[in-house]
This record gives sequence, structure tokens and C-alpha cells, in this order.
Amino acid sequence: MKKIVILISGRGSNMQAILAARLPLEVAAVISNEPSAPGLAAAEQQGISTRVVDHRAYADRAAFDAALASEIEGCGAELVVLAGFMRILTDEWVNRHRGRLVNIHPSLLPAFAGLHTHRRALEAGVKVHGCTVHFVTPRLDHGPIIIQAAVPVLPDDDEESLAARVLAQEHRIYPQALRWICEGRLELTPHGRVKLKHAQAADRALVSPALDNT
Ligand code: GRF
Repeated sequence: MKKIVILISGRGSNMQAILAARLPLEVAAVISNEPSAPGLAAAEQQGISTRVVDHRAYADRAAFDAALASEIEGCGAELVVLAGFMRILTDEWVNRHRGRLVNIHPSLLPAFAGLHTHRRALEAGVKVHGCTVHFVTPRLDHGPIIIQAAVPVLPDDDEESLAARVLAQEHRIYPQALRWICEGRLELTPHGRVKLKHAQAADRALVSPALDNT
């Protein structure tokens, strides 16, 4: 069974969705850079081992990244799952974990990389918004896309209502992406795209869900 670590900084609802999905993988640890992250307690309640690597305790980004890498290696993890992890990792670190590092971002990348995605989507007046699970590359919120889910932006939406609609989809697509990884179904093409092997019609519906699928 594949061993993973989940990196969080806060609430950890994606982490909980991953745990609840009962995937064929072992969560070796949940690691947070924030000692007070509520997600840590949630993981402990489910018997998952937790660690804190507090970025404030390190002189610079490289020292923090080294400490993080050694925790991850100590767990024997083959895959690093970023789930609301709010620290930028150095290019070297990301390159060292290339192909073994995934992230979820609350927008339809490449639109709205960075912070405050729901606010920016509302300001831009887009009619469709969503979320993306992708392999991580050194460029922020960039990298081969594994799965996306789209939701409509409704006329009365505010940041909170839109975020809630997107989050429900995050909780669906992150476990799905990890399931495909566990099943060895993902192939990175030379052009840096992700191909789903042996895709059936049902899988295609998952990759491009209908917009009314809220
Ligand atoms: C999610 O919206 C995720 O897409 C983003 O940060 C948020 C984390 O939420 N990267 P949670 O901690 O998983 O509840």
C-alpha cells in the first residue's frame, strides 16, 4: 500500500475528506507548519500520527524545507499531499519531489493562481469557477492537471457561498485523484499533461463533471 503524508496549515477539511474516502493507501502522518492548525486534532482523533514543523523555528526557507523533507523521509512516504498547506516551498524542494507532490487549488487553473480565488472570480464576473488537483512544479499553483470540477457562479453569490460550493467539489475530486494515483492510472506525457489510463465513460464524467453537479 502506498504511504502518503498530508501537509496542512489550517482546518484540514480536504485532509478529512481523504481520510473518510478509505483509499487503498496508508496515511503515515499529517504534518502542519502551524502548531494550532485545527486539522491536527481532527487527524489525531482518527488515530493518525501528527507532526509539527513550525516554520518560525527555522532561520530561512531552506532550513524549514530541509526539516520538512527529513520528517517526510522519516515517515517513508512515497507521495506528499498538500491540503491547504500555506507555505511556499523552495524550487529545489519541489524539484526533488517532482511527480510525488500533489496540491489542490480552489480555482480552475490556470485561472486565479494565488490567494483569494473566490473573491477574484466574483470580481472578474466569471460564470464558471471550480477547483483543480495538480502535480506541483516550482511555479506557484501550476503543474500538470489531474482533475478539475466546475461549479456555476450564481447571481447572488458572495465569497462565502461560492467558497462552500467549490469546497464540496474539492472534497470529491481530491480523493478521486489519489485513488487514480494509487491505482497507477496516471501517466505524465512528455508535454507535461496528465493522461488517465484505461479511461471509461464514467471516468471522463469525473474529469469534466456537468456544471449542475453542485
Ligand atoms: C482549500 O480551499 C484548498 O483548495 C486550499 O486551501 C483550502 C484548505 O482548506 N489550498 P482545508 O484546510 O482543506 O479545509
